[in-house]
Amino acid sequence: MNDLAGKHIVLGLTGGIACYKAAELCRALIKEGATVQVVMTEAAAKFITPVTMQALSNRSVYDSQWDAREGNNMAHINLSREADAILIAPCSADFMAKLLHGRADDLLSLMCLARPIDKVPLLIAPAMNREMWAHPATQRNLAQLKADGTTVFDVGTGDQACGETGDGRMLEPEELLQDLVSFFLPKVLAGQHVLVSAGPTYEAIDPVRGITNLSSGKMGFAIARAAHEAGARVTLVAGPVSLPTPRGVERVNVRSAQNMLEASVKYAQDATVFIATAAVADWRPAQASDQKIKKDGSGATPQLDFVENPDILATVAKTPRAAAGALYCVGFAAESHDLLVHATAKRARKGVPLLVGNIGPATFGQDDNALLLVDAHGAQEVPRNSKLVLARHLVTEIARRLRATQP
Ligand code: CTP
Repeated sequence: MNDLAGKHIVLGLTGGIACYKAAELCRALIKEGATVQVVMTEAAAKFITPVTMQALSNRSVYDSQWDAREGNNMAHINLSREADAILIAPCSADFMAKLLHGRADDLLSLMCLARPIDKVPLLIAPAMNREMWAHPATQRNLAQLKADGTTVFDVGTGDQACGETGDGRMLEPEELLQDLVSFFLPKVLAGQHVLVSAGPTYEAIDPVRGITNLSSGKMGFAIARAAHEAGARVTLVAGPVSLPTPRGVERVNVRSAQNMLEASVKYAQDATVFIATAAVADWRPAQASDQKIKKDGSGATPQLDFVENPDILATVAKTPRAAAGALYCVGFAAESHDLLVHATAKRARKGVPLLVGNIGPATFGQDDNALLLVDAHGAQEVPRNSKLVLARHLVTEIARRLRATQP
């Protein structure tokens, strides 16, 4: 992926042990396609050398407002005018206080003050000891910085360099990368609550055995991520998969189709969009045994009877809110052939405005896929791409349809 292609980021480092993570962050930004200009405070250079940051960014580092390399000797103006964003990671408690007061006694703070405020966004990733983070002065500064238009990334929780445990760690480089990518994406689902079902279900035969399928959950998780990136509140009802939860997404783990139905109906009560990507088992054993079924030595096989599972999507699509247009339902169809015919029929059968068809065997477990979007107006092919790119495309298409249906 090149989610930051064409973006020029000024990466500001201030004094803190989390400077070691800034090295990895710099690499990650570049790997994602950005160009990175590193600017360091004097304190940051106590924790990591400009040589390291220069080697990683492939550009010489700026650390003084008196740097004579710039023809006009105005590094604070030149560097801030070129940037698509200034990201300060780590941002110390002291630097937050400086930003708040508009102080400008070193290159980085001078540059933040001198940047065109409506063109060059300022983002900060705070990093400090938990007591410093919790201090009323820091929390007051935080609130004011947000009010001034600064984007403040969350802090992590956990072990701190000082030996204490709590809030205030800088987020990991991969998390900051995701948050930055997300920052640049249009918030087409702002104000929406998107419910996504994902993964397989597991239908118990006995306490150690069950029936499931090969769904990896990757498409549903990518959609949950894309919906969050687009500004929605996202609830992800996930069958048994080991994928990491996308950032900012509320995850509800379920096992059986019955569990998934209960969770989906519950969260659908205040969702505005339901995207059913889960590969729900069509049948479950009529009676799950409480105890492990044992071989009796005769070679006889157990007799299993099945009952049909509830259709979660069709159930949610029939609720009064969905019928009234307050809950926009999107189904998926995993087919092996005749995609358009089956997807069109399935859309009508499930009673949903939009159905997304894909070829099941070609997508299960893969990182990429191709989609066919079927709605009342016809079908649109979305060519093969990574599941995240497809998810972002789908989110854009859903947002477009919501604008047409919601007042
Ligand atoms: N679905 C559901 N509950 C079920 C079965 C399916 O919510 N019990 C949803 C899936 O999440 C998907 C859509 O319905 O969004 C289509 O699933 P699919 O398995 O392709 O369709 P089926 O209804 O099972 O039809 P068939 O197996 O006959 O193709």
